Parts: sequence; structure tokens; C-alpha cells
Amino acid sequence: LELQMNLEEIEKGGYDHFMLKEIYEQPRAIKDTYRGRLLADQGLIRMAGIDQNMEKFLNANRIIIVACGTSWHAGLVAEYIFEDLARIPVEVEYASEFRYRNPVITDKDILIAISQSGETADTLAAIKLAKEKGAFVFGVCNVVGSSIARETDAGAYTHAGPEIGVASTKAFTTQITVLTLIALKLAKAKGVFSESRYHEYLTELETIPSKVEKALQSNTLIEIIADVYKDSTNCLYLGRGYNFPVALEGALKLKEISYIHAEGYPAAEMKHGPIALIDEHMPVFVIATKKGHYEKVVSNIQEIKSRKGKIIAIVTEGDEQVRDLADHVIEVPETLESLTPLLTTIPLQLLSYHIAVMRGCNVDQPRNLAKSVTVE
Ligand code: AGP
Repeated sequence: LELQMNLEEIEKGGYDHFMLKEIYEQPRAIKDTYRGRLLADQGLIRMAGIDQNMEKFLNANRIIIVACGTSWHAGLVAEYIFEDLARIPVEVEYASEFRYRNPVITDKDILIAISQSGETADTLAAIKLAKEKGAFVFGVCNVVGSSIARETDAGAYTHAGPEIGVASTKAFTTQITVLTLIALKLAKAKGVFSESRYHEYLTELETIPSKVEKALQSNTLIEIIADVYKDSTNCLYLGRGYNFPVALEGALKLKEISYIHAEGYPAAEMKHGPIALIDEHMPVFVIATKKGHYEKVVSNIQEIKSRKGKIIAIVTEGDEQVRDLADHVIEVPETLESLTPLLTTIPLQLLSYHIAVMRGCNVDQPRNLAKSVTVE
């Protein structure tokens, strides 16, 4: 047992939990994801799985993304990126719903399946259904040689390295990285991107690992904030645009490792009901970065504040306006709007980690959960 314990300690690389190690691995993991693919100085993105099927992608009617959990959240980010940058219609489906709702699928559809483990039963079943109906299926997986990787017609690995913590962290950011590379590649191939705008994205993508490093430096502040809210019974997470899926992901992280109920919402949805929940006991985590409907999110913050809600805002570094309104602010570096999810998710990962640790929860193996849901 002693040897087993030591081996596990080594694998944790000195971190208290695998989840924390994997949160801190993200700068390196994102670099590994785009290594050999993002060739900014040559103005190139090289991805064999896309290059060999470029005609299919350019002639597709739409892209259907199927996934579960955190991978489904990465799919939602991809929907914004693909539609905004590559102008390709995208719909994102829970794999478990898609497989049973008798969906309309044709051979002009492309299905992108996102799965860290590559073994999720619902996602695998959705792939098989789509293939039966003639769709071309592309996989974004982390585990090489996994069932989904083998079942798909083509794919791209995230190369994030083993993710041991049940709560997915580096899988999420590396999935978004792969999907961003694909969207940029298709945008360029479709000619919807000027050379300069394309180059701007490639060079900005190369700065993301160091900007993630910067976001990780708020860890001590986040630990202090976690201590203030660790006994909450309910939390709200709000975001708009690209950061709406990040709000959903932040809420899932908190739920699954600290067992506190949390809900993610598009910020504008507050007035359609959820604002009735707001009182001085309700912490509201708001993603209010400069790029992405900033002024509207600020007015949402004011609505919450006038109802005595506690506001913890994720802001762009140097922000003063939200700082005056919120109870706490956590800064992330500025980047392009479509790349903000790669940064805004970092403080929410750390926040849920610290709250779970303070509550004495089993962070790496939360109750009732498995790392890969290989059964229905
Ligand atoms: C996320 O933190 C959970 N571990 C869970 O929602 C997970 O994302 C989901 O089960 C999908 O797993 P997959 O990416 O391996 O398919």
C-alpha cells in the first residue's frame, strides 16, 4: 500500500489533488494541443483529419455537435466560434437526447463528437446513429485509441495528457483549443477571413498559455473568496455570448465536487424568473469581461446588487467599473472575444476546487460519479 501511495503522490506532482494538478497543467496542455498544428509564423493550421476531409466540411449543410457534461459545454463554445468565425450552422445536442429523439440526419451533415474519455456510452451511441444515417463523423477525444476515436471517420486528439480527476478541467480548455483551430481553418478555407484577421487569431492563440498562467496567479485571492462562500446552499453563474457556456461549466464544477446546488444562466435570462431567487444569501458569479456585451452585463450586475445579491465578478484585468459594483472581482488577461472562455473558466475551476476542499469533499472522486460514464 505504501508503494501505491508513493506512486500516486508522484503522479500528483506534489499537488494535493489530481484536479489541482490538472488545472495547473492547462498552459502546458494547451501548448501540447496546438503543437504541430498551429504554425502562426507560416500562417498555417495543420490538421490531417480536417485537411483530408476539407470538401466535406465546406459542403456540409450544418455541423451537429454531440457530447455530455463538460464536453457538451465545450460544444456550446464551439457553436459560437463556428458560427461567428466560419459562418457554418451548428447545433449542439446532449448525446443522450440526440440518440433517442429520431433526429433528422442526412449525408450532408457532419457530426462532431466531443469526449475526453472516448468511452461515454451516450456519445458512442449518438455516433453510431449518425453513421447509420450517412453523416460524416469527426471525433475530438483525449484518450488515444478509445472506442469513440476508433468509431469516428476522422478526428483530432486533444493531447491533454491523462485526466484523472473526475471533474474535467484541462479536457475542457484543450477541447475548446482544438475546436477553435478547426473553426479558424474552415474560416480561412471558406475565405470568410482576411489574411490579417486570420493572422491576428493565430498569434493571439499562441499567447493563451501565458495568459492562462497569469489567470492562475489569482489562486490565493480565489481561496479567500472560496472561504467566504463555502457554506452557500445555492449559487448562480451568469455569462453572455461566448461566456454563457462558461457559466454553465462553472456551475457544473461546483455541483459535482462541492455538492452545492448551482445553476448557470445567460445573464439576460435573470429577469425571466431567476432574479426572484436573489437575496443577500445568494452568491452570483458573473463573467463580465470587457469583450462580450460588457455594458449589458454591468446592468445585470446592477439589477442583482439592487436586490442585495452577493456578486463575484470575473473581469478583464484593469477593470474599474465592475470593481466598484461587485463584492469581489477576479481578473483575467484581455484576449479576443472568442478566446475568452479559455481564460474565464480558470478562476471558476479554482473556486470550485477550493470550496470543495474546504467542505472536506473527495475532490478527485466525488460521490456517485465516475470518470467515464460507459453505461446509459
Ligand atoms: C465533467 O466534469 C464530468 N466529469 C462529466 O460531466 C464529463 O464531462 C462527462 O461525463 C463527459 O465525459 P467525456 O468527455 O469523457 O465524454
